[in-house]
Amino acid sequence: MNYRHAFHAGNFADVLKHIVLARILIHLKAKEAPFRVIDTHAGTGLYNLEGDEAQRTGEWQEGVALVGRQPPPPQVGELIAPWLQLCGNLMAQKPPLYPGSPWISSDLTRAQDHLVFCEKHPEDAGRLRRNFERSKRVKVMEGDAWKLLPGLLPPPERRGLVLVDPPYEQDNEFKVIADALAGALKRWSTGIYAVWYPIKGMREVENFANRLAALPAGRTLRFEISRYKVQRVDRLNGCGMIILNPPWKLEDELRAIGDYLAPLFAKEGAGFLRLDWLKEEEKR
Ligand SMILES: C[S@@+](CC[C@H](N)C(=O)[O-])C[C@H]1O[C@@H](n2cnc3c(N)ncnc32)[C@H](O)[C@@H]1O
Repeated sequence: MNYRHAFHAGNFADVLKHIVLARILIHLKAKEAPFRVIDTHAGTGLYNLEGDEAQRTGEWQEGVALVGRQPPPPQVGELIAPWLQLCGNLMAQKPPLYPGSPWISSDLTRAQDHLVFCEKHPEDAGRLRRNFERSKRVKVMEGDAWKLLPGLLPPPERRGLVLVDPPYEQDNEFKVIADALAGALKRWSTGIYAVWYPIKGMREVENFANRLAALPAGRTLRFEISRYKVQRVDRLNGCGMIILNPPWKLEDELRAIGDYLAPLFAKEGAGFLRLDWLKEEEKR
């Protein structure tokens, strides 16, 4: 396990993922009933943008720092406001901080909602635990998400989100995820599952999308932006999210958000790759 998210916190991929996460949480809050967020690959929760790791790559300068520099149209401004406000508050601190997915989930949920954060790296799991030690709504689990997840499903609330954000360090990671989701859906078919993935070459992405389209979920949405045109497969050309059982209004929201975000990050004529349904029909 070499991957450490501190090098990448706040980059364009985080921005896309975290805005989608925030929108899903906002939809879940439309009902009073409690829900649960299970973050399978949680990281540490909070990142120092002046820390060694962030300084070394400077990735956040081409990610979260660009958002807002080009003001969004009013509709998008409203949609991203809860996330952007949180970022603004934390980035105004000394040192400036960036909220990871656990921090966003914690900030945008209510007293009745519960959060489970899994993290395998012992050091990152320790930081995560310290970041949330005062919160009774949060349970931090140190270990392998793929072993922990079956035992967490279905959640007692029967409502909520599983965020899947692995480091994609291993060659077979796409298959491992598809298999884990197949098992998860058997235990909890109505949950929302949001999976982030990198786009290097398109072939592995298409294979992954086909695998997820074959899962017995209901509707499945696919959202991708590219930073570079996919001509070389040895770099992060773009990224995407596939969302199983997404909230109803998410498609329209992501179209407006993609139109704003993709040009902010695009180089060499890249941009908004796609937003479409991998699967539209309801599960029978
Ligand atoms: C992309 S980062 C997560 C970032 C986080 N979701 C966010 O948005 O702020 C992936 C994390 O997964 C952890 N990890 C790697 N393999 C894992 C596994 N099998 N189970 C749980 N966590 C794992 C890594 O240590 C790393 O912190």
